[in-house]
Amino acid sequence: MKLSECKILTFPKIPEPRGNLSFIEGGHHVPFDIARVYYLYDVPGGESRGGHAHKALHQVIIAINGSFNVEIDDGLNKKSVQLCRANEGLYIVPGIWRELTNFTSGSVCLVLASRPYEESDYYRDYGQFLNAVQREEFLP
Ligand code: TYD
Repeated sequence: MKLSECKILTFPKIPEPRGNLSFIEGGHHVPFDIARVYYLYDVPGGESRGGHAHKALHQVIIAINGSFNVEIDDGLNKKSVQLCRANEGLYIVPGIWRELTNFTSGSVCLVLASRPYEESDYYRDYGQFLNAVQREEFLP
């Protein structure tokens, strides 16, 4: 899997004087059925999250409130994406190392995931992740 497969998705937004409404349908607005939702909040200033890659999990990361940076790395190339809009999400395919940094105060990171939580789906060691990339374990 390649960095070029990770992309910003824009979700519908219904703006009204009463406020904005956005919605996300699995398999339609995100390219997988949603099996799990989790969220990061009350992240202390200067802390980072992530620091791992997944073997089979597809995810979409959304800054529901505030902003933060997501650095994505496919073992060959890296790029940093700032998320700051509640109707945009970063789609991350399997085989991508990610780090989430620079959380603003009060920010909330919502994650839509294609599978239930499985610790066996994680690479938490960067060296083991690079070995897996070299073994071409993440080819589509
Ligand atoms: P982790 O995925 O390492 O968090 P992050 O990438 O945001 O830094 O998960 C942190 C802890 O929470 C770890 O012990 C696993 C647990 N966890 C679950 O039990 N279920 C979940 O859906 C997730 C995402 C994590």
